[in-house]
Amino acid sequence: MANLTIQLGRDVTLSNPVMAASGTFGYGDEVPDLVDVNQLGGLVTKSLTLRPNEGHAPPRIVETPAGLLNAIGLANIGVEAFCAGKLPFLETLQTQVFVSIAGATVGEYVDILTAIERSGNKIAGYEINISCPNVDEGGMEFGVSASITETLTAKLRQLTGRFIMIKLSPNVTHIDAIAKAAESGGADGISAINTVVGLDMDPLTGQRSLSNLIGGLSGPAIRPIALAAVHSIAGAVSLPVIGMGGISSAEDIIRFVRAGATAVQIGTANYRDPAVGVNLLARLEQLMEQMQIETLEEIRGVIH
Ligand SMILES: Cc1cc2nc3c(=O)[nH]c(=O)nc-3n(C[C@H](O)[C@H](O)[C@H](O)COP(=O)(O)O)c2cc1C
Repeated sequence: MANLTIQLGRDVTLSNPVMAASGTFGYGDEVPDLVDVNQLGGLVTKSLTLRPNEGHAPPRIVETPAGLLNAIGLANIGVEAFCAGKLPFLETLQTQVFVSIAGATVGEYVDILTAIERSGNKIAGYEINISCPNVDEGGMEFGVSASITETLTAKLRQLTGRFIMIKLSPNVTHIDAIAKAAESGGADGISAINTVVGLDMDPLTGQRSLSNLIGGLSGPAIRPIALAAVHSIAGAVSLPVIGMGGISSAEDIIRFVRAGATAVQIGTANYRDPAVGVNLLARLEQLMEQMQIETLEEIRGVIH
Protein backbone atom coordinates (compact mmCIF):
# COMPACT_ATOMS: atom_id res chain seq x y z
CA MET A 1 0.00 0.00 0.00
CA ALA A 2 1.33 3.42 -0.95
CA ASN A 3 1.79 5.85 1.92
CA LEU A 4 1.51 9.45 0.68
CA THR A 5 2.23 11.17 4.01
CA ILE A 6 5.10 13.65 3.84
CA GLN A 7 7.11 15.07 6.72
CA LEU A 8 8.31 18.63 6.12
CA GLY A 9 10.97 19.44 8.65
CA ARG A 10 10.26 18.61 12.28
CA ASP A 11 6.80 20.01 12.77
CA VAL A 12 4.77 19.88 9.56
CA THR A 13 3.11 16.74 8.25
CA LEU A 14 1.30 16.77 4.91
CA SER A 15 -1.37 14.13 4.22
CA ASN A 16 0.05 13.92 0.69
CA PRO A 17 2.80 15.67 -1.32
CA VAL A 18 0.52 17.93 -3.38
CA MET A 19 0.05 21.58 -2.51
CA ALA A 20 -1.65 24.42 -4.40
CA ALA A 21 0.84 27.07 -5.57
CA SER A 22 0.66 30.73 -4.62
CA GLY A 23 -1.41 32.97 -6.85
CA THR A 24 -3.33 30.17 -8.49
CA PHE A 25 -5.70 29.21 -5.67
CA GLY A 26 -6.67 32.58 -4.15
CA TYR A 27 -7.06 32.35 -0.39
CA GLY A 28 -8.49 28.83 -0.52
CA ASP A 29 -12.09 30.05 -0.32
CA GLU A 30 -12.86 30.66 -3.98
CA VAL A 31 -13.52 27.17 -5.29
CA PRO A 32 -15.48 25.29 -2.58
CA ASP A 33 -17.93 23.82 -5.11
CA LEU A 34 -15.18 22.56 -7.38
CA VAL A 35 -12.71 20.98 -4.99
CA ASP A 36 -12.43 19.91 -1.36
CA VAL A 37 -9.27 21.80 -0.39
CA ASN A 38 -8.88 19.60 2.70
CA GLN A 39 -7.84 16.79 0.41
CA LEU A 40 -4.74 18.70 -0.67
CA GLY A 41 -1.52 18.17 1.26
CA GLY A 42 -1.18 21.93 1.58
CA LEU A 43 -2.20 25.29 0.25
CA VAL A 44 -0.11 28.42 -0.33
CA THR A 45 -2.11 31.65 -0.36
CA LYS A 46 -1.75 34.42 -2.91
CA SER A 47 1.26 36.61 -2.03
CA LEU A 48 0.33 39.30 0.48
CA THR A 49 1.75 42.79 0.52
CA LEU A 50 1.59 45.26 3.39
CA ARG A 51 -1.10 47.39 1.75
CA PRO A 52 -3.89 46.36 -0.68
CA ASN A 53 -2.57 46.28 -4.22
CA GLU A 54 -4.57 46.42 -7.47
CA GLY A 55 -1.72 44.99 -9.49
CA HIS A 56 -1.07 45.76 -13.15
CA ALA A 57 -3.75 46.93 -15.59
CA PRO A 58 -5.20 44.30 -17.96
CA PRO A 59 -4.31 42.44 -20.07
CA ARG A 60 -2.30 40.59 -17.44
CA ILE A 61 -2.50 36.97 -18.56
CA VAL A 62 -1.87 35.57 -22.04
CA GLU A 63 -1.56 31.99 -23.31
CA THR A 64 1.66 30.94 -24.99
CA PRO A 65 2.69 27.54 -26.41
CA ALA A 66 2.42 25.09 -23.50
CA GLY A 67 2.34 27.92 -20.99
CA LEU A 68 0.85 31.04 -19.48
CA LEU A 69 2.54 34.41 -19.38
CA ASN A 70 1.32 36.59 -16.53
CA ALA A 71 2.00 39.99 -15.08
CA ILE A 72 -0.59 40.20 -12.33
CA GLY A 73 1.65 42.55 -10.35
CA LEU A 74 0.91 41.01 -6.93
CA ALA A 75 -2.75 42.09 -6.84
CA ASN A 76 -3.99 41.26 -3.32
CA ILE A 77 -6.11 42.53 -0.44
CA GLY A 78 -3.23 43.50 1.86
CA VAL A 79 -2.29 42.00 5.21
CA GLU A 80 -4.89 43.80 7.34
CA ALA A 81 -7.90 42.62 5.30
CA PHE A 82 -6.31 39.17 5.07
CA CYS A 83 -6.02 38.81 8.83
CA ALA A 84 -9.58 40.06 9.38
CA GLY A 85 -11.35 38.39 6.47
CA LYS A 86 -9.41 35.37 5.25
CA LEU A 87 -7.32 33.97 8.08
CA PRO A 88 -10.31 32.84 10.20
CA PHE A 89 -11.53 30.64 7.33
CA LEU A 90 -8.03 29.33 6.55
CA GLU A 91 -7.64 28.32 10.19
CA THR A 92 -10.68 26.05 9.93
CA LEU A 93 -9.07 23.97 7.19
CA GLN A 94 -7.54 20.58 7.83
CA THR A 95 -4.97 21.04 5.06
CA GLN A 96 -1.67 22.72 5.92
CA VAL A 97 -1.80 26.42 5.12
CA PHE A 98 1.24 28.47 4.18
CA VAL A 99 0.87 32.23 3.84
CA SER A 100 2.87 33.77 1.02
CA ILE A 101 4.52 37.10 1.79
CA ALA A 102 5.88 39.70 -0.62
CA GLY A 103 7.55 42.96 0.37
CA ALA A 104 9.18 45.93 -1.28
CA THR A 105 11.69 46.29 1.57
CA VAL A 106 13.02 43.95 4.27
CA GLY A 107 10.99 46.02 6.74
CA GLU A 108 7.78 45.30 4.84
CA TYR A 109 8.34 41.52 4.97
CA VAL A 110 8.95 41.89 8.70
CA ASP A 111 5.76 43.95 9.21
CA ILE A 112 3.58 41.51 7.23
CA LEU A 113 4.87 38.44 9.04
CA THR A 114 4.57 40.16 12.42
CA ALA A 115 0.94 41.11 11.70
CA ILE A 116 0.08 37.50 10.82
CA GLU A 117 1.94 36.08 13.82
CA ARG A 118 -0.12 38.38 16.03
CA SER A 119 -3.47 37.30 14.64
CA GLY A 120 -3.05 33.75 13.47
CA ASN A 121 -2.08 30.71 15.43
CA LYS A 122 -3.07 27.73 13.31
CA ILE A 123 -1.20 28.17 10.05
CA ALA A 124 1.64 25.79 9.25
CA GLY A 125 4.03 28.48 8.12
CA TYR A 126 5.09 30.92 5.47
CA GLU A 127 6.35 30.97 1.91
CA ILE A 128 8.57 33.96 1.29
CA ASN A 129 8.26 35.24 -2.27
CA ILE A 130 11.62 36.83 -3.01
CA SER A 131 10.86 37.52 -6.68
CA CYS A 132 9.94 41.07 -5.72
CA PRO A 133 11.64 44.35 -6.63
CA ASN A 134 13.67 45.61 -3.65
CA VAL A 135 13.05 49.34 -3.32
CA ASP A 136 16.12 49.81 -1.08
CA GLU A 137 18.34 48.30 -3.77
CA GLY A 138 16.99 50.30 -6.73
CA GLY A 139 14.43 47.73 -7.84
CA MET A 140 16.75 44.72 -8.10
CA GLU A 141 14.85 41.58 -7.05
CA PHE A 142 15.57 40.25 -3.53
CA GLY A 143 15.98 36.77 -5.00
CA VAL A 144 18.93 37.58 -7.24
CA SER A 145 21.23 38.37 -4.31
CA ALA A 146 22.52 35.64 -1.99
CA SER A 147 23.45 38.11 0.74
CA ILE A 148 20.06 39.86 0.73
CA THR A 149 18.31 36.47 0.72
CA GLU A 150 20.31 35.42 3.78
CA THR A 151 19.68 38.71 5.60
CA LEU A 152 15.95 38.61 4.88
CA THR A 153 15.63 34.96 5.93
CA ALA A 154 17.55 35.57 9.16
CA LYS A 155 15.32 38.55 10.04
CA LEU A 156 12.14 36.53 9.51
CA ARG A 157 13.59 33.54 11.37
CA GLN A 158 13.76 35.66 14.53
CA LEU A 159 10.04 36.37 14.32
CA THR A 160 8.49 32.91 14.07
CA GLY A 161 9.03 29.28 14.97
CA ARG A 162 6.72 28.21 12.15
CA PHE A 163 7.93 26.61 8.92
CA ILE A 164 9.58 29.13 6.61
CA MET A 165 10.14 28.20 3.00
CA ILE A 166 11.95 30.60 0.73
CA LYS A 167 10.57 30.58 -2.81
CA LEU A 168 13.31 31.00 -5.37
CA SER A 169 13.30 32.71 -8.72
CA PRO A 170 14.74 30.80 -11.70
CA ASN A 171 15.91 34.10 -13.18
CA VAL A 172 19.35 33.93 -11.60
CA THR A 173 22.76 32.62 -12.61
CA HIS A 174 23.29 30.17 -9.74
CA ILE A 175 20.06 29.14 -8.02
CA ASP A 176 21.97 26.75 -5.73
CA ALA A 177 23.91 29.67 -4.22
CA ILE A 178 20.65 31.46 -3.37
CA ALA A 179 19.27 28.26 -1.82
CA LYS A 180 22.40 27.93 0.33
CA ALA A 181 22.01 31.54 1.48
CA ALA A 182 18.41 30.83 2.54
CA GLU A 183 19.62 27.76 4.43
CA SER A 184 22.32 29.80 6.19
CA GLY A 185 19.67 32.37 7.14
CA GLY A 186 17.67 29.67 8.91
CA ALA A 187 15.02 28.60 6.37
CA ASP A 188 13.18 25.31 6.93
CA GLY A 189 12.55 24.58 3.26
CA ILE A 190 13.09 25.85 -0.27
CA SER A 191 10.33 26.11 -2.85
CA ALA A 192 11.16 26.46 -6.52
CA ILE A 193 10.53 27.70 -9.06
CA ASN A 194 8.69 30.95 -9.50
CA THR A 195 7.92 31.98 -13.08
CA VAL A 196 10.51 32.45 -15.85
CA VAL A 197 10.86 35.93 -17.37
CA GLY A 198 9.02 36.17 -20.69
CA LEU A 199 7.61 38.59 -23.27
CA ASP A 200 5.12 38.34 -26.13
CA MET A 201 3.47 40.66 -28.67
CA ASP A 202 1.22 40.54 -31.71
CA PRO A 203 3.64 39.96 -34.58
CA LEU A 204 1.71 42.09 -37.12
CA THR A 205 0.57 45.09 -35.09
CA GLY A 206 3.38 45.02 -32.57
CA GLN A 207 0.80 45.39 -29.78
CA ARG A 208 2.22 44.15 -26.48
CA SER A 209 0.43 41.08 -25.07
CA LEU A 210 0.69 42.24 -21.44
CA SER A 211 0.15 45.80 -20.23
CA ASN A 212 3.36 45.41 -18.23
CA LEU A 213 5.17 44.10 -21.37
CA ILE A 214 7.31 41.68 -19.33
CA GLY A 215 5.67 38.75 -17.56
CA GLY A 216 6.37 35.43 -15.92
CA LEU A 217 6.06 32.18 -17.84
CA SER A 218 4.53 29.12 -16.16
CA GLY A 219 3.00 25.79 -17.13
CA PRO A 220 4.40 22.73 -18.96
CA ALA A 221 6.78 24.94 -20.99
CA ILE A 222 8.94 25.50 -17.90
CA ARG A 223 8.90 21.97 -16.45
CA PRO A 224 12.43 20.96 -17.57
CA ILE A 225 13.82 24.28 -16.29
CA ALA A 226 12.13 23.65 -12.94
CA LEU A 227 13.41 20.07 -12.75
CA ALA A 228 16.97 21.25 -13.34
CA ALA A 229 16.56 23.90 -10.64
CA VAL A 230 15.17 21.41 -8.10
CA HIS A 231 18.00 19.00 -8.88
CA SER A 232 20.58 21.72 -8.35
CA ILE A 233 19.00 22.98 -5.10
CA ALA A 234 18.55 19.48 -3.65
CA GLY A 235 22.25 18.85 -4.25
CA ALA A 236 23.24 22.08 -2.50
CA VAL A 237 21.16 22.12 0.70
CA SER A 238 19.94 19.63 3.25
CA LEU A 239 16.49 21.23 3.54
CA PRO A 240 13.33 19.79 2.00
CA VAL A 241 12.71 21.15 -1.50
CA ILE A 242 9.15 21.83 -2.60
CA GLY A 243 9.22 21.61 -6.39
CA MET A 244 6.94 23.23 -8.93
CA GLY A 245 6.80 24.32 -12.54
CA GLY A 246 4.48 22.80 -15.12
CA ILE A 247 3.14 19.92 -13.06
CA SER A 248 -0.08 18.59 -14.54
CA SER A 249 0.03 14.83 -13.94
CA ALA A 250 1.03 12.22 -11.38
CA GLU A 251 3.96 11.32 -13.64
CA ASP A 252 5.15 14.93 -13.33
CA ILE A 253 5.05 14.68 -9.53
CA ILE A 254 7.30 11.64 -9.70
CA ARG A 255 9.69 13.48 -12.01
CA PHE A 256 10.04 16.23 -9.38
CA VAL A 257 10.61 13.71 -6.59
CA ARG A 258 13.29 11.99 -8.68
CA ALA A 259 14.91 15.40 -9.21
CA GLY A 260 15.05 15.78 -5.42
CA ALA A 261 11.73 17.26 -4.28
CA THR A 262 10.10 16.22 -1.00
CA ALA A 263 6.72 17.74 -1.94
CA VAL A 264 5.32 19.64 -4.91
CA GLN A 265 3.04 22.53 -5.77
CA ILE A 266 0.67 22.85 -8.69
CA GLY A 267 -0.01 26.27 -10.18
CA THR A 268 -1.10 26.87 -13.75
CA ALA A 269 -2.88 23.50 -14.09
CA ASN A 270 -5.42 24.74 -11.50
CA TYR A 271 -6.69 27.24 -14.07
CA ARG A 272 -7.88 24.37 -16.26
CA ASP A 273 -9.22 22.32 -13.34
CA PRO A 274 -9.03 23.47 -9.70
CA ALA A 275 -9.46 19.83 -8.65
CA VAL A 276 -6.39 18.65 -10.58
CA GLY A 277 -4.22 18.31 -7.45
CA VAL A 278 -6.75 16.12 -5.69
CA ASN A 279 -7.70 14.17 -8.81
CA LEU A 280 -4.20 12.97 -9.58
CA LEU A 281 -3.61 11.42 -6.14
CA ALA A 282 -5.26 8.13 -7.11
CA ARG A 283 -3.03 7.89 -10.19
CA LEU A 284 0.00 8.71 -8.04
CA GLU A 285 -0.80 5.78 -5.75
CA GLN A 286 -1.25 3.55 -8.80
CA LEU A 287 2.18 4.54 -10.15
CA MET A 288 3.80 3.94 -6.75
CA GLU A 289 2.36 0.45 -6.69
CA GLN A 290 3.64 -0.12 -10.23
CA MET A 291 7.14 0.96 -9.11
CA GLN A 292 6.72 -1.22 -6.00
CA ILE A 293 7.45 1.58 -3.57
CA GLU A 294 5.63 2.40 -0.37
CA THR A 295 6.84 5.99 0.03
CA LEU A 296 8.12 8.62 -2.39
CA GLU A 297 11.19 8.90 -0.17
CA GLU A 298 12.43 5.64 -1.79
CA ILE A 299 12.87 7.33 -5.19
CA ARG A 300 13.73 10.86 -4.05
CA GLY A 301 16.80 12.00 -5.95
CA VAL A 302 17.04 8.70 -7.84
CA ILE A 303 17.81 9.24 -11.53
CA HIS A 304 19.64 6.47 -13.40
C1 LIG B 1 -1.56 33.80 -12.62
C2 LIG B 1 -0.42 33.47 -11.72
C3 LIG B 1 -0.24 34.19 -10.54
C4 LIG B 1 0.82 33.90 -9.69
N1 LIG B 1 0.96 34.60 -8.52
C5 LIG B 1 1.97 34.29 -7.66
C6 LIG B 1 2.10 34.96 -6.41
O1 LIG B 1 1.29 35.81 -6.03
N2 LIG B 1 3.17 34.63 -5.63
C7 LIG B 1 4.08 33.66 -5.97
O2 LIG B 1 5.01 33.37 -5.21
N3 LIG B 1 3.95 32.98 -7.16
C8 LIG B 1 2.92 33.27 -7.99
N4 LIG B 1 2.80 32.58 -9.18
C9 LIG B 1 3.81 31.54 -9.51
C10 LIG B 1 3.32 30.14 -9.17
O3 LIG B 1 3.04 30.01 -7.78
C11 LIG B 1 4.36 29.08 -9.59
O4 LIG B 1 5.58 29.33 -8.91
C12 LIG B 1 4.66 29.10 -11.08
O5 LIG B 1 3.52 29.43 -11.82
C13 LIG B 1 5.22 27.76 -11.59
O6 LIG B 1 4.32 26.69 -11.38
P1 LIG B 1 3.24 26.19 -12.47
O7 LIG B 1 3.98 26.01 -13.76
O8 LIG B 1 2.64 24.94 -11.92
O9 LIG B 1 2.24 27.30 -12.59
C14 LIG B 1 1.74 32.85 -10.04
C15 LIG B 1 1.55 32.13 -11.22
C16 LIG B 1 0.48 32.40 -12.05
C17 LIG B 1 0.31 31.59 -13.30
